[in-house]
Amino acid sequence: MQIQGKSVLLTGATGGIGETIAHELSSCGAELTISGRRADVLERIAEQTGASVALADLADRSQLERLLADHSGIDILIANAALPASGPLEDFSVEQIDRALDVNLRAPVMMARELAGPMKARGSGQIVLISSLAGKVATAGSSLYSTTKFALRGFGAGLRADLIGSGVGVSVIFPGFVRDAGMFHESEVELPGYVGTSSPEDVARAVRNAIENDRGEVDVAPLTVRAATKASELAPSLMGAVVRRLGSADFTSEIAERQADKR
Ligand SMILES: NC(=O)c1ccc[n+]([C@@H]2O[C@H](COP(=O)([O-])OP(=O)(O)OC[C@H]3O[C@@H](n4cnc5c(N)ncnc54)[C@H](OP(=O)(O)O)[C@@H]3O)[C@@H](O)[C@H]2O)c1
Repeated sequence: MQIQGKSVLLTGATGGIGETIAHELSSCGAELTISGRRADVLERIAEQTGASVALADLADRSQLERLLADHSGIDILIANAALPASGPLEDFSVEQIDRALDVNLRAPVMMARELAGPMKARGSGQIVLISSLAGKVATAGSSLYSTTKFALRGFGAGLRADLIGSGVGVSVIFPGFVRDAGMFHESEVELPGYVGTSSPEDVARAVRNAIENDRGEVDVAPLTVRAATKASELAPSLMGAVVRRLGSADFTSEIAERQADKR
């Protein structure tokens, strides 16, 4: 799909990766609608990109419904908003668990449900779901986040199969750790040297590539991280033991502590 002139709804546009995606798609000539909860940040990005603004708390069902009713005719959905939802499960209140499930999983499912029908009727559209490599491999402190990100992978693959031949594509993006902006960067945790990172621009380019070439799944990470992810998918117990020996629990618990205010 050509992005030029297409209408795009981007959630999580106020976040580090979302803002970069907004600039990337705006430079391709998209007619952008950017969504998030922070009006001041949305207004700043709108001034820079010419986007329209749609304030919505995706954990609030009536706000989600209104967002969808107002944007039923969009060509491209990018479901990017998410909470880090990191840390041991017992550290979360029931309300915090519900919020993570609502924002990270229920909202993308409902958005795809509402928007795929009109896209199908027009014979064209693209649904892009931002997952994570934590949607392929789970580590200590990722049980809730990985629940949502693994689920997006299955949801996206199944929906893609349902929509084959309709002109509507579904893409799932799997970034690893992202430097310079976004939820991991804001935690200010230093990773061990063997864990490579990607830039927000790498993720934005992957989103653009997925839309233009209808890619089903795209990993965004250095080769070593992608190889370790593949090895973990093939031999989860063995690789789990290896990453534990390398001290992964130390930095994952530090990240969870620093992200606790986002629950
Ligand atoms: N950063 C990484 O290293 C990394 C790695 C892999 C995958 N990802 C994924 O990439 C995507 C973007 O992450 P990021 O790093 O840019 O995160 P971020 O900077 O923390 O931004 C999160 C975005 O989600 C929005 N959001 C959170 N709760 C919301 C709610 N209740 N209603 C509406 N919007 C809500 C925030 O909007 P407001 O602030 O306006 O409320 C913000 O725009 C996420 O899906 C994340 O899981 C990130």
